[in-house]
Amino acid sequence: MASPSLLLSLSLLSLLLPPALSLTCTSQKFNNTYNNCTDLPQLGAFLHYTYNASNSSLSIAYVAAPATGGAWVAWAINPTKTGMVGSQALMALRLNGSVVPKTYNISGYHSVVESRLSFNVWDLSADEVNGTMRIFATVQVPEKASSVNQVWQVGGAVSGNQPSIHPLVAANKESTGKLQLDSSSSSPAPAPSKSGVRAGRVNVGLLASVILLMGTFAVL
Ligand SMILES: *[C@@H]1O[C@H](CO)[C@@H](O)[C@H](O)[C@H]1NC(C)=O
Ligand SMILES: *[C@@H]1O[C@H](CO)[C@@H](O)[C@H](O)[C@H]1NC(C)=O
Ligand SMILES: *[C@@H]1O[C@H](CO)[C@@H](O)[C@H](O)[C@H]1NC(C)=O
Ligand SMILES: *[C@@H]1O[C@H](CO)[C@@H](O)[C@H](O)[C@H]1NC(C)=O
Ligand SMILES: *[C@@H]1O[C@H](CO)[C@@H](O)[C@H](O)[C@H]1NC(C)=O
Ligand SMILES: *[C@@H]1O[C@H](CO)[C@@H](O)[C@H](O)[C@H]1NC(C)=O
Ligand SMILES: *[C@@H]1O[C@H](CO)[C@@H](O)[C@H](O)[C@H]1NC(C)=O
Repeated sequence: MASPSLLLSLSLLSLLLPPALSLTCTSQKFNNTYNNCTDLPQLGAFLHYTYNASNSSLSIAYVAAPATGGAWVAWAINPTKTGMVGSQALMALRLNGSVVPKTYNISGYHSVVESRLSFNVWDLSADEVNGTMRIFATVQVPEKASSVNQVWQVGGAVSGNQPSIHPLVAANKESTGKLQLDSSSSSPAPAPSKSGVRAGRVNVGLLASVILLMGTFAVL
């Protein structure tokens, strides 16, 4: 039998999940602004997007709850490789109480510099709703790209205008992958679209949290 303190800490963990955050992107309302959405496989984050091949534009809405402390969320494209280093990031940061959008050139683990990006960015904005921060933008992607390398992140603190380091647990290190743009692509890359499979897993996790919570009440 699990000890009360284990149950308590697991239950507290489940409480960190923002309660009002929809479990799948398809249940989030964006007034049909975006053609596609994906439940990103880490950090409980979501990406809504529309790829327009005729002008190589990708319009996105990124939705994520910031880490404890509530300071920032980020979504980036890495034009040259996978992972954080080299990525070109769109961020929403809490500065002086308001949530503002900024762009950062991340050329190394210790080089996060507010900067123009290596590709065009239009209509960048950010807001906060239901415990999540959202980033909206249209970015230019390489012509005829069938996918882009994406990286996403959440953080708990800012220092000056700078995002402070994000948590370093597995979920924060594994929040990277391919965003498939061209669905007719014959490549078998794991397209992160359509959320049916993952929805099942989220629901199992939710069920586990509810059971653990009930366990806590029994203990307290
Ligand atoms: C959707 O439309 C409603 C009513 O026009 C508006 O208040 C809301 O902000 C819109 N939501 C988004 C995510 O665009
Ligand atoms: C895609 O971009 C082209 C060129 O700007 C535009 O004419 C077209 O309407 C866009 N398609 C959609 C679905 O917005
Ligand atoms: C491409 O088309 C989209 C959709 O019509 C539009 O929002 C965007 O501004 C266009 N981008 C460019 C660079 O023309
Ligand atoms: C925050 O507000 C203070 C006082 O109004 C101001 O001096 C500072 O520049 C502001 N910082 C940012 C990042 O806007
Ligand atoms: C990003 O930073 C690196 C290293 O300083 C630099 O070589 C590169 O040109 C920068 N990219 C942009 C778009 O500013
Ligand atoms: C925020 O949460 C409320 C209550 O769950 C919901 O009705 C509303 O649609 C949510 N707003 C957004 C923008 O998701
Ligand atoms: C995005 O949505 C469009 C329109 O519903 C669909 O044709 C396309 O296959 C989807 N793309 C991806 C990558 O799922």
